[in-house]
Amino acid sequence: MTTIDLSGRVAFVTGSTRGIGHAIAEAFLRAGAEVGIVGRDAARAQEVAAALGAGAHGVGCDVAEGEQVERAVAEVEEALGPIDILVNNAGLTRDNILLRLSEEDWDAVMAANLKGAFHTIRTVTRGMMKRRSGRIINITSVVGLTGNRGQANYAASKAGLIGLSKSVAKEYASRNILVNCIAPGFIETDMTRALPEEARDALLGSIALGRLGQPEDVASAALFLASDLAGYITGQVLVVDGGMVI
Ligand code: NAI
Repeated sequence: MTTIDLSGRVAFVTGSTRGIGHAIAEAFLRAGAEVGIVGRDAARAQEVAAALGAGAHGVGCDVAEGEQVERAVAEVEEALGPIDILVNNAGLTRDNILLRLSEEDWDAVMAANLKGAFHTIRTVTRGMMKRRSGRIINITSVVGLTGNRGQANYAASKAGLIGLSKSVAKEYASRNILVNCIAPGFIETDMTRALPEEARDALLGSIALGRLGQPEDVASAALFLASDLAGYITGQVLVVDGGMVI
């Protein structure tokens, strides 16, 4: 069996103090990478990094703020070395039907889910371009492919992330920087635990494999896309949803 080896690589994983981002950080560390644990709250990020152990470095940053991203990237590069792998995982929902959707909730979702990726990609690719090597993995959602009632802002941000990824994949291919998306379906995390029982049951009925996804299911896909096994894949969207959207 081929095992994935990321030793000697440095990853920067946004929103990795919990949920899917945390599972990705854990999987990368287990594969031998060093990982920048990026959360909005610096103290929490440092705490999580300390619990993850050697090779993890916690840093605070709101990805929606360009200057904070620049500082966080510089700090991680100083602590761990040049960033080889960027995972844009930070994201949030502010659900409402369009008629009731406030401009504030539109902007908050766009800022975290889409503008955040613009800031991080622009910052880390400076070094990646010089080194002519890099992997970027953007966590979108099946909702970005299908749309969803009550999630116009979220779906637009996630569809936007796919457009951003495909454009950047074309721009950076000649520099050997590979850019892909993962579109998870319904994964059990704090984000989805808030859903009412009825909505969860209805969603479960639509999943061909008959179970909700776990953060580790998404982490496995990220591990593959970050590895040498995925060296000929760029500009793609890998759907990890147990057959919810077929
Ligand atoms: P989560 O809410 O447990 O984790 C998201 C993390 O991102 C949190 O730690 C949060 O503080 C952080 N974050 C949010 N805005 C930020 C900002 N501006 N700057 C820095 N950090 C910020 O959610 P979960 O479920 O782990 O989601 C991770 C990603 O996966 C998100 O992008 C989400 O949209 C996406 N996703 C999740 C699905 C699910 O079913 N849970 C399905 C499809 C996509």
